[in-house]
Amino acid sequence: EKRHVWESSVYDAMQKEAFYFVGHRICIREATDSFGALVWPGALALCHYLENNQQQVNLMDKAVLEIGAGTGLLSVVVSLLAWVTATDLPDILPNLSFNLIRNTQGRSRHTPQVKALTWGRHHPRDFPQSTRRYDYVLAADVVYPHGDLDGLLDTMCHFCPPGGDTTLLWANKRFQSDMRFTERFQRTFHATLLAEFPQQEVRIYKATAKE
Ligand SMILES: C[S@@+](CC[C@H](N)C(=O)[O-])C[C@H]1O[C@@H](n2cnc3c(N)ncnc32)[C@H](O)[C@@H]1O
Repeated sequence: EKRHVWESSVYDAMQKEAFYFVGHRICIREATDSFGALVWPGALALCHYLENNQQQVNLMDKAVLEIGAGTGLLSVVVSLLAWVTATDLPDILPNLSFNLIRNTQGRSRHTPQVKALTWGRHHPRDFPQSTRRYDYVLAADVVYPHGDLDGLLDTMCHFCPPGGDTTLLWANKRFQSDMRFTERFQRTFHATLLAEFPQQEVRIYKATAKE
C-alpha cells in the first residue's frame, strides 16, 4: 500500500480490522498508542444501531458532526448517506483521515471532512456554525477518565444549542466515571435512552437542547 507523506511512523506497528456495515466491508487501521487509535465499543454499538434503525434515525443527506471520532469507523458508516464532519484532537487526524479516505472514496454520497476540534469553549470563528447547522452530533465513548468532562459538555451544548434542530446521539460503555456525567447530561438536555447493549455494557442516548 502506498505510504502517504503525512503518515506518522507509529502506525508502522498498526493493525487493520475489517468491519461489515450496510453491505460494505470497512477496513480500519488501528494502533495501540492512544485512545483515538482503537475502535471502541460505543462506535460499534452506534454503527449497529444506525444500520438497524434507519427509519427512526434517517441520515439521508443530513449534516452530521462527530466529536472524538478516533479511527473514524462511525463517520465512515454515516457518510455512506450523510454529509459528515469527523473531528478529534490534532494528533489523531492523520489516521482518521487515512481511514475515511480509504473507505469512502467512490462509495459515500458525500465526501466527509476531517477537522481538529478540541473540546471546551469554542470561538464561532474556529468552527462557524452559521455556515453549517448540524442535524446530528455523534459521540461514541467520549466519556472516560480523560479529565475534561466539563469541556466535553460545553462542546455538546455548543453544537446542540437551544432553539436549534440538532439531535445528539451519545453511545458509551459503562465506566464508573460516567455516572456523574450522565446525571449532568440528563439535567442539561432532554435525554432519552434509545438502546442498550447489556453484553457490551453500552448505552445509547438521544438528546436535544432544553429551551
Ligand atoms: C475512547 S476514544 C473513542 C474513539 C471513537 N469515538 C470510538 O468510539 O471508537 C475517545 C476519543 O476522544 C478523543 N478526545 C479525548 N479528549 C479530547 C478532547 N479534549 N478534545 C477532543 N477530542 C478528545 C480522543 O482522541 C479519542 O479519539
